[in-house]
Amino acid sequence: MSLFAIGDLHLHFQSVLKAPGQQKGIWKNHEEAFRRASEKRIGPEDTLVLAGDHSWGKDLAECEQDFAYIMGLPGRKILLRGNHDRFWDAKKTEKLNRQFEGRLFFLQNNYYAYRDYALVGTKGYTFEGPFYLDGRGRIKGWDAEEKERADALVERELERLRLSFEAASRDGYTKFIMFLHYPPTNILERKSGFTQMAEAYRARQVIYAHCHGEARFHDSLTGVYKGVEYRLASGDFLAWQPLKIMD
Ligand SMILES: [Fe+2]
Repeated sequence: MSLFAIGDLHLHFQSVLKAPGQQKGIWKNHEEAFRRASEKRIGPEDTLVLAGDHSWGKDLAECEQDFAYIMGLPGRKILLRGNHDRFWDAKKTEKLNRQFEGRLFFLQNNYYAYRDYALVGTKGYTFEGPFYLDGRGRIKGWDAEEKERADALVERELERLRLSFEAASRDGYTKFIMFLHYPPTNILERKSGFTQMAEAYRARQVIYAHCHGEARFHDSLTGVYKGVEYRLASGDFLAWQPLKIMD
């Protein structure tokens, strides 16, 4: 029994692809590449966490074929919200969990038990600019209004993450794997409310996605930092191989 993760499948079997770059290079036939890699490495008793940005579909009806693809992958599938997942209203997560019971689990304000670990998580949020650069490409400032808006979203996501940790703690769990869609820190930070919460609850690992393209792969923490291991699981970074989190 093993735990795997990957993020950013950005499926579009029946919806409009809004990122033209996702047709070439590493993205060419990526659905097929990931399906094949999953079938090779993931067994029916394993668990796969999909760390957000599942589909370009604007609602559930437009995601139907994307969900059929996900449900056809091996193992138990746990889904996290990404910034493009318009089908998923955070407040209606319980309804999604009822609708897909026994087939998919939607992780939001709740947790999923894996051995003696609780899998917890939320979408997260990070400030992505605009940043202002000097002549040598160094950041000399940023848009204060956007930063303020981002700070409010970070606060809301931290509250949702706390609900997830607390739901697991109430049920007696003390070991956690934490999932975010956004990276835990923005490119200016080495710590954030998300890293502090991971440390406070002693999460073993923090898995995140969202960063596409080589230029973005090092936007946030990777490796062990204050006792927590940070790992990027965006699909293009992993070349569509599921990332093994633990046995
Ligand atoms: Fe994203």
